[in-house]
Amino acid sequence: MRPSHILIVGAGGREHALAWRLARDPHAPVVEMAPGHDGAATEFTCHPVSELDAEGIARIVRDRGIDLVVIGPEAPLAAGVSDRISELSIPVFGPSQAAARLEASKWFAKEIMLAASVPTARAERHSDARAALQALSRFEAPWVIKADGLAAGKGVCVTSAETEALAFIRDCLESDRFGEGGRAVVIEEHLVGEEVSVMAVCDGSRAVLLPPARDYKRALDGDLGPNTGGMGSYAPAGSLDASGERDVLEHIVEPVLRVMASKGMPYRGLLYCGLILTEQGPRVIEFNARFGDPEAQSILPLVAGSLSSLLASAASGELTPSVIGREAGAAVTLALVAEGYPDRTTPGGRIEGLDEVASRFDVHVFHAATRRQDGWVVSGGRAAYLTAVATDVEAARVRVMAARASLSGDRWRARADVALSIAAPPLAARRGA
Ligand code: AMP
Ligand code: GLY
Repeated sequence: MRPSHILIVGAGGREHALAWRLARDPHAPVVEMAPGHDGAATEFTCHPVSELDAEGIARIVRDRGIDLVVIGPEAPLAAGVSDRISELSIPVFGPSQAAARLEASKWFAKEIMLAASVPTARAERHSDARAALQALSRFEAPWVIKADGLAAGKGVCVTSAETEALAFIRDCLESDRFGEGGRAVVIEEHLVGEEVSVMAVCDGSRAVLLPPARDYKRALDGDLGPNTGGMGSYAPAGSLDASGERDVLEHIVEPVLRVMASKGMPYRGLLYCGLILTEQGPRVIEFNARFGDPEAQSILPLVAGSLSSLLASAASGELTPSVIGREAGAAVTLALVAEGYPDRTTPGGRIEGLDEVASRFDVHVFHAATRRQDGWVVSGGRAAYLTAVATDVEAARVRVMAARASLSGDRWRARADVALSIAAPPLAARRGA
């Protein structure tokens, strides 16, 4: 099936990149967004509807003759928007509410991994603060503590300072820091190794992997500061070669698909595997039910062929991996964020030069939290992304950094070390090596 009229649900940089890439499929489908944003509205029709408004989105799908819906963020998946669109018998790329629990509950994901014999960190779940504090003694520092539910990429604390670990547990279980998402915590074994994000396009029983990517989660250079949604990315990540990818497909993705199907919640959509490549092989630290953001911005330009046909085939349970390929070369993405992001985000800054940078430096500008107001105003945490595609990671990095250096304005910042000094990957770090 070749979709001709696609609706992207969401309003971030990932959704802008999805719209950009899908519109460039060889058969040039029409792409619209719900809600999208000012930055996307120059190229795509954007519908002013909440991404959580399943009825509103269903109406747009019917009124506009949409033949493929792609859901970008986790919140609409967790709210069941995919289920509502499925009722219209329109292909929707994005798992059902039940299947999206792989992301919405860290503990549900652990139970599925256990049932599927997927390698992951040993863990305990606690909703009582006293029990959680006592559990720390059963793990070694540094401690890894996660809010069980959704927390916008900020619900993880990795620390060797006991006081910080205690404070995070209390914040979740006693002070309601993450609301519903923090009513329980998962404490898990700390794993050591390089991180890599692998995206699998799944049709319920089969999957195809997109190029692996590396995400920069910490706010500050040198991987310091608090965890964020992601400050930059590059792809392909050389730490996972072809046999490593096969390993991930056979020992992680496919077993999870089998268990999900056997439990009556077949997984159709994007399964994001957050991995640490330990000396014993890849270990899963998280699943997400959607493309990584900002991994998508680096991965999507490297997908050749008809991405919309691939996503539609997955959505209808008939995966046809042959409709896509991989471009040679590499991509690097840099997030431009509000000053103070993530802990004390202060919107209102201005990014000057964004409209000029694309053609001057041959980069893509993917908007997220920006508003057009006599130029571009920062309206949230991660405002926009610059992505460069080049022959290799270093060439793409140099271009992205040159583009960033040409921007001015106030009250925004970006990391300076994204994709810097990508050393030869440690190839020993995989099963069977
Ligand atoms: P997550 O949101 O689960 O990906 O966690 C955010 C970050 O915390 C990851 O990118 C890792 O850097 C770190 N992290 C999470 N789980 C572990 C673990 N079990 N061992 C070591 N680091 C971890
Ligand atoms: N960049 C990590 C995520 O999308 O969860």
